[in-house]
This record gives sequence, C-alpha cells and structure tokens, in this order.
Amino acid sequence: EKGGYEHFMLKEIHEQPKVIRDTINSVVKDGRIVLDEFGLTDEEVKALSQIYIVACGSAYHVGVAAQYVFEELTSIPVRVELASEFRYRKMPLSKNSLVVIISQSGETADSRAALTLAKERGIKTLGIVNVVGSNIAREADSVFYTLAGPEISVATTKAYSTQLIAAYLLAMQFAKVREEITEERFAELLEELNTIPDKVAKILEDKERIQWFASKFSNIRDAFFIGRGIDYAVSLEGSLKMKEISYIHSEAYAAGELKHGPISLIENGTLVISVLTQQALFEKTVSNMVECKSRGAYIMGLTSYGNYSVEDTADFTAYVPKTDPLFAASLAVVPLQLLGYYISVAKGLDVDKPRNLAKSVTVE
Ligand code: F6R
Repeated sequence: EKGGYEHFMLKEIHEQPKVIRDTINSVVKDGRIVLDEFGLTDEEVKALSQIYIVACGSAYHVGVAAQYVFEELTSIPVRVELASEFRYRKMPLSKNSLVVIISQSGETADSRAALTLAKERGIKTLGIVNVVGSNIAREADSVFYTLAGPEISVATTKAYSTQLIAAYLLAMQFAKVREEITEERFAELLEELNTIPDKVAKILEDKERIQWFASKFSNIRDAFFIGRGIDYAVSLEGSLKMKEISYIHSEAYAAGELKHGPISLIENGTLVISVLTQQALFEKTVSNMVECKSRGAYIMGLTSYGNYSVEDTADFTAYVPKTDPLFAASLAVVPLQLLGYYISVAKGLDVDKPRNLAKSVTVE
C-alpha cells in the first residue's frame, strides 16, 4: 500500500508531479481554464471587490502564497485569515466579496464554521477541497476539487501542492475574466504551469542531497526559516513540516522582521534556512542571511539554479529549477518537505503519525 516507500509521507511527496498534473488537467482545456462547473459567473467575478481566503495550518499557508499571486495578477484585494480567528471576529465583510475556504479534508471544524458564517452573512463561498462529498464540499456554493487522491500521512504534502495549483488557476482565470492580464502573459503562465510537474520530479531526483543534510542536522534544537514575499509563505510551510514531524522547535519569519526581535535568538550554530526564489527580493534576503551568519548561524540557502552567489553566504545550498516567481512555492516547498521527512526518519520518529496530531481536526 505504500508502493515500495518506507512511509506514506515519502510516497505522497513522490506523487506530487502526477497529482499536480491531474489538478491542472481537470480544468485546463485547449489553452483555456474552464471553471464553468463552479457556478461562479463571469459577472460575479467581474464584480468581486474583495477575496477572503480562510483556512487552517498548511491550507492557511497556501492562502498566504495565494494572496501574493492574486494581488500580482488581479486588482482584487485579498485577505488571508486563520479560520479559528475569522469565525470569532466581528469583521465587516464587504458585499461582492468571495470567501475561499481551503481544506484538504473538508471536515476541519474551524473552516466549516467560517464557511457557515460567510453563508449566514450572504457572502458567496468557494471551497478548495480534496475529499469529495465532505462537509465543506457539500456546503460551499462552488467547489474546486484538488485531485491529490487520498492523503494518509498526517503531515500534508501532495494536498498542499494541489491547493497551490488551484489557487494559481483561480487567480489566472479571474485576471482573464476581468481583463487584467494580457493574452500573452496568460499563455506564458499556463505554459509555465505545465512545466511544474516535471520540475518537481527533477527536485525529487536530488533527494539524497537533502537526506545527507538532514542526517547532519537531526540533533538540532531550533531552526529558523526566513524569506520574503512568496518565499515567506514557503518558509511558514517548511517550518510547520519541521516541527510537526521532526519535533524540532522551528519558526518562520518574514526576513525583514528579524531585526525587530527574533535575531536575538541567533547564536553560534543556530540553523537558519533562507528561501530565495523571488529575484526582486533576492538581495534584501541575502543581507538578512549575512546578518545571521555574522552572529554565528549555520545557513542553508534554498534558491533557483543560477543564483550561485548564495554560496558566498550559505554553508549549504539546495537548488530548485527556475520558474515564474508566482509559482515558486510549488518548487521551493519540495526540499523543505524532504528535510522535515528525513530529519524525522533520522530521529526514528513515527513520520506518518506524529504525536498529538490527527489527520482531520473535526473538533475545535
Ligand atoms: C499540516 C497539516 C495541517 C492541515 C490543517 C488543515 O501538515 O496537515 O496543518 O493543513 O489541519 O486541514 P484541512 O486542509 O483538512 O482543513
């Protein structure tokens, strides 16, 4: 049942090229993104004045990445909210808004409550859901099914990756309907999106390198993940993978926030993982790496091929293929999934069933 892999998590990490491809193919037909079955009309998309993305855990991290993508491609303001907070806030929800609930299981209690709240307020809802027939899939006005297939490992990998793809496709299609993107840019993005499965597969070919690094660092106490923009979103997810399955205390910071407090924790040997796929923010993040390094941190850089100057500062560097900056989370997350996985294995932990965690959080 694990298809020859030692754990479900590793199997599911390797399924990512296929499930990403399946999710793209489910809505892309002849160079167009077809969302007809979603019940969202072009008029509604044109009229949108606000998007709220609401989710928990890794699905929330997808929302953080998606926010940057929507803002880059469309003129629709986006807010990303933790479902457990959103449900108890007294947020004024603007009319003509769309609440997007992201949930692998479709059963998460807080996400369900957020959906109910949105519906009670008369706001249109869209679920990005993996489990067919789940509560959120049934209750949301429209559903974008991710085609990750059953995910057994408690730590999500392939569902997260397909949720990202769903978010890109929605943002691209909204931009197209609202005439906020040129035909050329749309075609270019679609073409690039189709290369993501092969690029993920390429990263997986290099997994021994991450395994080697993990074996060296399996005994650390703390890790810090830093990045800017979409790299910050990836840092959040990398940090969660690390803590949930490796039981290593880890935190993620927007790199620019370091000097507002967290840098006081950096000392000799502290592991700092710096994500640098966003070319426009590259030098800014490098300067944060240098600040950490000068305080004795051991730096792992994670960047795209070509950015070899990272090695001037980083002690160890992992590379991912180049892609459009908007899609970079889909690639950068893979080495971080592998890192969490291999550290967990090196420590002899129960990778697929980490302590205190449940696959589906159906109670508050
Ligand atoms: C982390 C993880 C959780 C889930 C969260 C939401 O690896 O799996 O953080 O992302 O519990 O679950 P769903 O997506 O089922 O609503």
